[in-house]
Amino acid sequence: MEKHVAVLGCAWGDEGKGKIVHSLAPDYDYIIRFNGGNNAGHTVVVDDNTYKFHLLPSGILYPDKVSVLANGVVIDPKILVGEIENIESKIGKTNFRVSHAAHVILPYHRKIDGLEGKKVGTTGRGIGPCYQDKVARKGIRIEDLVDSDGEIRTDHFRNLLEETLEAANFILTQKYHEKPFELDDIVEEYTSLAQVFAENVTDTSALLYNAGKKGKRFLFEGAQGIMLDPDIGTYPYVTSSHPTTGGIFTGTGLYFEFDRIIGVVKAYTTRVGEGPMTTELGTAEQTKDEKKDEPFTDENRKKAEAGDEYCMGKFLRKKGVEYGTTTERPRRCGWLDLCIVNKKAKPANGLTELAITKLDVLSDMPSCNERITVCLDYEPPQYAEYPRWQQEIADMREYRELPRQAQQYVQAISNHTELPIKLVSVGPATDALINCDIKPY
Ligand code: IMP
Repeated sequence: MEKHVAVLGCAWGDEGKGKIVHSLAPDYDYIIRFNGGNNAGHTVVVDDNTYKFHLLPSGILYPDKVSVLANGVVIDPKILVGEIENIESKIGKTNFRVSHAAHVILPYHRKIDGLEGKKVGTTGRGIGPCYQDKVARKGIRIEDLVDSDGEIRTDHFRNLLEETLEAANFILTQKYHEKPFELDDIVEEYTSLAQVFAENVTDTSALLYNAGKKGKRFLFEGAQGIMLDPDIGTYPYVTSSHPTTGGIFTGTGLYFEFDRIIGVVKAYTTRVGEGPMTTELGTAEQTKDEKKDEPFTDENRKKAEAGDEYCMGKFLRKKGVEYGTTTERPRRCGWLDLCIVNKKAKPANGLTELAITKLDVLSDMPSCNERITVCLDYEPPQYAEYPRWQQEIADMREYRELPRQAQQYVQAISNHTELPIKLVSVGPATDALINCDIKPY
């Protein structure tokens, strides 16, 4: 039986990691988030209920598992409390731990992100400014709100905040001519929110270290994807934490040996926000104002079949419902980019296998030559084309049921990446998942 497994994004986030984590979770004892904050967004569909999480790991839906927000995560207490209350109203008591060393997102982080993050197209949730304060050694940690006995540290929090708030208010008022934040308002809001999760605060490094010694099994849920890593990705159009295997070590404060490091790859590529995207169909400019309820018309299909790239991208966006879980922004869509897997995700993460998601979206994809393109390399540019299939596949549960062309596509991904594929997701429902064992040749 495998011990530890990591689930990591192999593009710009939104690969469908939440569903993979949710499906693996029954075999693990602890489900751990180690990076990012509520810039992430996971949608898990169970029976007729759709759950959207931004902060809590997807494993939270299993009350017998311990969900962990480790030290590398940044925590907006209001979001945390909102998610806990929402889930508890549906499934009863949750079971989670929050690291004492995780940093707290404060209202001025959100405000500054809103003012300064536009160039990158951030989610505006205060993630970057919070990590900025962490690295600048002026951040506020969960332990500054809650002590080791679970008591709220109102005076200590107020004293620390007074200093950081003065600096933040200076920037807000002098540089941006915005209203300053009031110390008392933040102290009152944050100390009252902290009461909801005070008993869940702990040293998660010690917790996991001891649990690991007792043979407990860990499932690590990455947020975002390799191309948003500040060192490896498309800098400066990146996030502020490491969605990598390395990020697991620093984001938990521990070393682990993994049995499986699963790279999650969507059957095509998407990105939100600004920055380069080699395989994009259409342009960011064309996509940006597209409304979620705008249909994919017969006219659009005709244009796509005549080779209009924007309409091909629009097909993927509409069928794949490619709108941000966090911001509802339309995602830029393009052909599958395996150069990212081969040159970035695989070397950085030590991937042992891939999981392919949203294969169903490619069914009946309009394109000028009835083929689906895959990017293999940028320098020199190298592409491969595969025959498309028309049949819808969302109800299929066995690999052998898939149309021959869909199997050929999955096999090609395995061959080009030289990685096995053990999971293929074919629809939004939790059970729309095919277990397989495709080996590269
Ligand atoms: P931030 O993480 O909010 O600072 O945003 C930095 C960049 O990462 C922006 O381009 C965001 O759109 C992108 N980003 C952050 N989190 C996610 C995610 O979970 N999915 C997709 N893009 C993300």
